[in-house]
This record gives sequence, C-alpha cells and structure tokens, in this order.
Amino acid sequence: MSARIIDGKAIAATLRAKIRQYVAELGYQPGLAVILVGDNPASTVYVRNKDRAAREAGIAARTIRLPAATSEAELLATVAALNDDPSVDGILVQLPLPEQIRAQAVIDAIDPAKDVDGLTQVNAGRLLAGVRGLVPCTPLGVMKLLAAAGVSLTGARALVLGRSVLVGKPVAALLTAADATVTLAHSRSRDLPAECRRAEVVVAAVGRPEMVRGDWIAPGAVVIDVGINRLPEGRLVGDVAFAECAAVAGAITPVPGGVGPMTIACLLENTVTAAMLRRA
Ligand code: GUN
Repeated sequence: MSARIIDGKAIAATLRAKIRQYVAELGYQPGLAVILVGDNPASTVYVRNKDRAAREAGIAARTIRLPAATSEAELLATVAALNDDPSVDGILVQLPLPEQIRAQAVIDAIDPAKDVDGLTQVNAGRLLAGVRGLVPCTPLGVMKLLAAAGVSLTGARALVLGRSVLVGKPVAALLTAADATVTLAHSRSRDLPAECRRAEVVVAAVGRPEMVRGDWIAPGAVVIDVGINRLPEGRLVGDVAFAECAAVAGAITPVPGGVGPMTIACLLENTVTAAMLRRA
C-alpha cells in the first residue's frame, strides 16, 4: 500500500474538541432538535450518534421520535413548533422518511436559519449563488478532510461520482467554489473508469459497494470515499475498493473512519454557526 490514509476519525475528534471548547465559552447553550420518524435501523443509529455527539459538545440536544405512521401534516406541525421555539437553533429531520411523507416539503418547512443540514431549497440555492449559508454536513466534511490533508484544489481536476442532493451536487458546488475543475459523473455517464482516471481528486458518493476499482485511479490521486455499504456477510465497505485503490492513490479515506465521523462533527459546527447567526 502506498497511499497516505486520511484519518477522518482523528480529524473529526480535533474538530469536536474545538467545538466543545467554543461552546463552553459561548455563554449560552446552542439547541439542536433531531426528528426521527419510524424505526429504520440505520437511521436510529445515526440519530443516536448525533444526539450523543451534540451533548458531548455541550449542545442542548433533543431527539423527537415519531411513529412510522405519522402524517405529513403532523410532521409539519412538529417542525413549525421547533421553528417557533427560541431555544432551538438547529433542526434536522433524519432521512429517509416514510413514503406517505414528501421529504422535500418537510425539509422546506424548516426555517432556513435553523436548517443545520443545509438541505432547504433556500440554503441549496445560497450555496450555488455563493452566498453565505448553512452547507450540508457530509459535503462540508469532505471539504474539511481535503483541507486537513493539505490537498491543493485550485485548478485541480476533480471528479464527483454521484449526483444526489445530499452529497454529489453540493460537493460539486463546494469544489467549484474552491476553484477546482469539476466533473459531476453518475450512473448514466459514459465510461466512468476513464473519467475517473483523468481526475486528481475523486469523491465517490454513489452507494455501490466497492464500485471504484484500482485501475480507475490515477497514480497519486486523492480519493475520498463517502459510501457506507453493508455487505451481505456484514462487513462495512465504501464505494471504493480500498486495498486496490490505496495501492495507486496518493491519499485515501478509509471506511469506516473517513467521511462518516466528519458528518457528525460538521453537524455540530453548523449548529453553533446557526446559533451565532441567529443570536447575533
Ligand atoms: N440520512 C443520511 N444522511 C443524512 C443526512 O446527512 N441528513 C439527514 N437529515 N438525513 C440523512
């Protein structure tokens, strides 16, 4: 193996320690409300981790658990109450939502000033417009990993694999804002391996276990793996075939221990940012 490992766990721990210190000196407790509808096992774990990390940082976190049969109107009423609650600085509705609920309608009901997930249309638009706003947590975490690894983005050829609203599109926007030359590729792109081989920075966010192979990677490229996939035998893998790609890449994130921990750390940062902007 030749690639340097970008240790997301350590980088996230440093960020969380900084946030904890910052919150301790703030003079008030930022508030975060996380809404979980139903009992999706992965979502249940993610929400528990977010709640715990927020408390550890000194944030007043609460998790609101609603039954799977909750109607869209009931969920909208819950969001509206949190919008009106001055002790709440950040609101996060965990996705996916049950199918009777339109996710974007609920997300867009969140006050953009409290949208710590950065997923309202207002904040998504601000990101594209280059106006300061709340940026989605996983894309923000990707950018912080690249910065911590000392990757120079100006003029760099960057390939984003995956065009999701949650990751691919906002990562492409952030890389563009950082002066990279960005290609956004996806399941319908022709010759993904060739697109990948041209890139100096690859961000994989497709949700397909180990899709990116070693011979897709240019020697020395930086590989950021956003995927978290559980194989039938139970093992957790990313969207990148780690051993193969690490043999060629210059730097690479592992799964687990890469992007995942950064997502939570960035949620805490966004909560503090939202609190400061709201209470300024
Ligand atoms: N489900 C998976 N990732 C996310 C995320 O970043 N935010 C929300 N709200 N739900 C998710």
